[in-house]
Amino acid sequence: MGKIGIFDSGYGGLTILRAIKDLLPEYSYVYLGDNSRAPYGDRSFDVVHEYTLQCTDWLFNHDCDLVILACNTASAKALREIQQTDLPKRADSKRVLGVIRPTTEQIGHYTKTGHIGIVGTKGTVQSHSYAIEIGHFFPDLSIHQEACPIWVHLIENELMGTPGSDYFVQYHLDRLFSREKRIDTLLLACTHYPLLYSTIQRYLPKGVRVISQGPLVAQSLKQYLHRHSVFNRRLSKKGELEFYTTDSNLRFDQIGSNFFAADIQSQTVHL
Ligand code: DGL
Repeated sequence: MGKIGIFDSGYGGLTILRAIKDLLPEYSYVYLGDNSRAPYGDRSFDVVHEYTLQCTDWLFNHDCDLVILACNTASAKALREIQQTDLPKRADSKRVLGVIRPTTEQIGHYTKTGHIGIVGTKGTVQSHSYAIEIGHFFPDLSIHQEACPIWVHLIENELMGTPGSDYFVQYHLDRLFSREKRIDTLLLACTHYPLLYSTIQRYLPKGVRVISQGPLVAQSLKQYLHRHSVFNRRLSKKGELEFYTTDSNLRFDQIGSNFFAADIQSQTVHL
């Protein structure tokens, strides 16, 4: 029976896995964090595609029939190529999904002013994936983006809550809101950013709602599995949970437990 693979460049995808597991505890999950090569945010399209494909293949070879790219950078820069070109060549019966579509399908329901702020990595922002995808579902919305390249570094180095991280959170939010004051919904379009949630709340203008992707991705996966009942029957319902990282497993267990909000025991793998 197939498992569900959850992939991120590092720890961020654990915030997505947590939400998915809360909603769908009966499935079996394999998490892979490519921590030795994170962050992906500043890397080129070709490199993000190459790394993401290697990790997807690894998950396929570890009994996963479905892989979720729980990373916006990988979803923006590699998903389409993997779905359209790579997947048909290697494993036609397997599936790969991303986190952008589940978010863009829903985001328009949260705003009253029609102005959405998006914070993400440089790669995600420069790909314009969010503006393009939101345009399909909610063509009347105005999208305002801000790349926050240093936030992932702050989180990966456990600097949340320090004066340094406060400074850079305020810096990027001020830049975003100085460009458009009518933003009433802020999307955290990087799976790492929920770890900065309380700091972000502190520096936001009053009344702005912050949206994290975990619950949206989990709901969307539930609906996907309901729609694809034949595929769903192939998936294991043993409730297993495994964690793998391409870097030190001790460090992954320590930092990853903050993201997953529970203890983690991971193994190091070489791709
Ligand atoms: N967690 C990844 C995302 O959602 C980004 C981290 C990185 O730059 O590698 O975009």
